[in-house]
Amino acid sequence: MSRDANPDQALHAARRQRALDALGDGLLILPTAVESPRNGDVLHDYRPGSDFHFLTGFPEPEAVLLASRRGRGRHHSVLFVRPRDREREIWDGRRHGVAGARRRFGVDEAFEIGSFWRELPRFLAPHARVFHRLGADPAFDRRLFEVFAGEARRHRRQAPPAHPVLQDPLPALAAMRLVKDSAEQRALHAAAAVTVAGHVAAMQAARPGLHEYEVQAVLEAEFRRRGSVRNGYPSIVASGPNACVLHYHDNDRRLRPGDLLLIDAGAELQGCTADVTRTFPVAGRFTPAQAAVYRVVLRAQLAGIAACRAGAPWDAAHRVCVRWLTRGLVELGVLRGDVRALVRGQRFKPFYMHGTSHWLGRDVHDVGAYQDDAGRAAVLRPGMVLTVEPGLYFAAGDRRVPAELRGIGIRIEDDVLVTRGTPQVLTAAAPKELEAVERACGRQPGRAAVRRKARAQPGS
Ligand code: GLY
Ligand code: MN
Ligand code: MN
Repeated sequence: MSRDANPDQALHAARRQRALDALGDGLLILPTAVESPRNGDVLHDYRPGSDFHFLTGFPEPEAVLLASRRGRGRHHSVLFVRPRDREREIWDGRRHGVAGARRRFGVDEAFEIGSFWRELPRFLAPHARVFHRLGADPAFDRRLFEVFAGEARRHRRQAPPAHPVLQDPLPALAAMRLVKDSAEQRALHAAAAVTVAGHVAAMQAARPGLHEYEVQAVLEAEFRRRGSVRNGYPSIVASGPNACVLHYHDNDRRLRPGDLLLIDAGAELQGCTADVTRTFPVAGRFTPAQAAVYRVVLRAQLAGIAACRAGAPWDAAHRVCVRWLTRGLVELGVLRGDVRALVRGQRFKPFYMHGTSHWLGRDVHDVGAYQDDAGRAAVLRPGMVLTVEPGLYFAAGDRRVPAELRGIGIRIEDDVLVTRGTPQVLTAAAPKELEAVERACGRQPGRAAVRRKARAQPGS
């Protein structure tokens, strides 16, 4: 069975009920993600749609969920899925099929996906409202409007509305996904643990002479070894000045002895992803300049994490981080003047040009509003998960900064669960204090073996 399958029927039925209770009366039409061609007859690796998987646990492409409320505390769910097909399963692998979808995923009815447009009108008929998000698949949207138009023609002698009103379900689903339920919290803990293991393996493996992609291979091998199906986003493995490219992805430079290596990578597990950045010295020791910048970023990050408390605005961490980073920029001799005035003037921007946090969950930049309708910042509540990821970036040729800082890019990123009390850092096990990072980099199996060999063979 695909590792994306989650046949916890009670969990998904409860999520569907909550979603429908939030949406109200109407029919939810939710297709999963569309397969994406890579070249010729080859497809990109498939990942189920996040909302669809959240509400069904069903892993296969070419599937649609129909769901509607049936009075208080009850609902009706229908899955349209690919049929069993002996020939196709020889080529592409096993399918759950119609009977499997119904039995394993606990929906009330299941049909072949090929019958979807034929069956849809009878499911639509009792509903004055349809919940469907436009834009993911224009061909699907067009067909849906054709069905609406057909219904309108059929009912032209009736009082309006002859076809249903269309409403976007995303705000309700996003609000639900924003506060993680206990299953999602467990998945995020699991993704965090695997991600930490990958980062530690990378710290141990990195050494001058390797390419960034070789370290990436170690990191991602550890993710896979520990059961992660895929990465939550493309791994950033950025050595030396490449760390100043925020979404660097070439990952092809050779590591040099004085380099820092910035790795921003997260393993996806049980549908959720972690998002962790660590920056460490390739040769195992920070230079004094690197250490000075590192301490500034770390101090800001720890203060930012402490600000992620229930009741605070979601961007409290950002406000705290820019204050500490700006103070650090003064201490490092990059900026001069009063820290408050420098913060007000956003003078940190050339060296800290991104935000400090985003929601995290099924998607690395997860769904969820950052402000309410009146423009007020979202308020943190227990169960929300967000990143705290300050950094400082001094480009190699930047003559505004002291020469010894040029080419240094450092980001430190952790995943934080908001609780009723102290924020819980899901990724706390990844070495972060400067000395702990150096120790982790020093514990290289390869190096230890070299030392043992040298001791065993004096003079070699
Ligand atoms: N890895 C992408 C981010 O940190 O937002
Ligand atoms: Mn992030
Ligand atoms: Mn990241």
